[in-house]
Amino acid sequence: MSDEKKTIGLAVIGCGTIGRIRAEFARDYPGIGWLGLCDIKDDLRERLATDTNADFQTASFEELIKRPEVDAVIIATDENHHMAPTIMAADAGHALFIEKPLATDARESLAVLQSIEANGVDAVIGYTQRFRRRFLTVKERLVTGQIGEVTGVVTRAIMNRMVPIATVARTNQRENLTPMVVSGTHALDMCMWLMEGKTPVSLYAQSNDKAMAQYGTKDSTFGIFTMDDGTMFSMNISWAAPVIWPGAVYGLEIGIIGDKGVIDIEDTHRDMIIASEIPQGAGYAPEGFEPEFQRHVDFMTSYPPGDIYNGQLWGPMREETFSWYQRLCAGLDTPHATAQDGHRNLMLTMAMDLSAKRGERIDLPLEIDDYYE
Ligand SMILES: NC(=O)c1ccc[n+]([C@@H]2O[C@H](COP(=O)([O-])OP(=O)(O)OC[C@H]3O[C@@H](n4cnc5c(N)ncnc54)[C@H](O)[C@@H]3O)[C@@H](O)[C@H]2O)c1
Repeated sequence: MSDEKKTIGLAVIGCGTIGRIRAEFARDYPGIGWLGLCDIKDDLRERLATDTNADFQTASFEELIKRPEVDAVIIATDENHHMAPTIMAADAGHALFIEKPLATDARESLAVLQSIEANGVDAVIGYTQRFRRRFLTVKERLVTGQIGEVTGVVTRAIMNRMVPIATVARTNQRENLTPMVVSGTHALDMCMWLMEGKTPVSLYAQSNDKAMAQYGTKDSTFGIFTMDDGTMFSMNISWAAPVIWPGAVYGLEIGIIGDKGVIDIEDTHRDMIIASEIPQGAGYAPEGFEPEFQRHVDFMTSYPPGDIYNGQLWGPMREETFSWYQRLCAGLDTPHATAQDGHRNLMLTMAMDLSAKRGERIDLPLEIDDYYE
């Protein structure tokens, strides 16, 4: 941490679910001296500007990024629309917080990464689950060798289908809005972070789409990677659990096998359950999304950003956002994913989709053009 404390001018581009959460935190953080907002939806933007007492608002991200007050930019636009504001903000030399996935297209992701590297800006990606105490202590124990050499990692994520239904409804460009690219990326990032230093050299994956084809996406992708040192990594996700499934969004299990020990992580949130005659909130509730069924049973704490108490969000997204503000203002070294991590995660999640499409094993890394066959 440096001794110098700075006051930051922050631009938030995208005032939907996630942009709102991060902008509200900005207003509460003393080091953020100026807040500017951008969204093409006037009503969302104006409501958030009122709620956060924003200093400036516009429908044009170009206009916001050019403002002289801006030092740092949050890109919280929807998945297919990260590239243009990110490259412009990197060219302007601003520090960046980019929502996951870095992009939904291999060439766009590479272009974003290259502009971040060419401009030498500090850029982090919204892999929020890294900020949970449970995963931080796992990482610490792995780094300090408490289970010896890791030889295998097995993970499976089950998700409520509310997220894919709401996500694909926002666009007709659905080809890359797959379970791995949009959501499995969180579990993959976690496992790759926990296995830091190992590089995947081959992969085989399969997918199916029985329930979700009607929405323009797939149900599940299961795959297995081999790493450069022979470690096996089994990565499996389904985002097709019915709307009434008690997990609000994400339930995860990770087993990590070392030559001197094992770490077994149960993160399905089944340890806190509410069942009630009164319908429970969706947890995930983007503008205009009406779930088809009411949920009466809920795994409490299964909404990944956190939980509301007294009108405020408490949980991983609070830790993640505030520690980024500390990184900006006080130079704190934080466990955020880098732009390189974000690009790698997109390449690996898209490679899983490609292996499933080809029905064959793939050697890694792929060339960018391979993603467009
Ligand atoms: N870190 C996490 O845990 C987490 C959780 C959920 C979503 N996300 C990610 O956050 C991002 C946003 O998701 P969301 O759920 O908030 O979506 P959302 O649809 O609620 O909000 C996105 C907003 O971006 C705006 N937008 C799109 N293009 C724009 C442009 N060119 N200029 C200005 N505004 C524009 C839209 O009008 C919309 O209001 C996605 O990439 C998503 O995958 C991250």
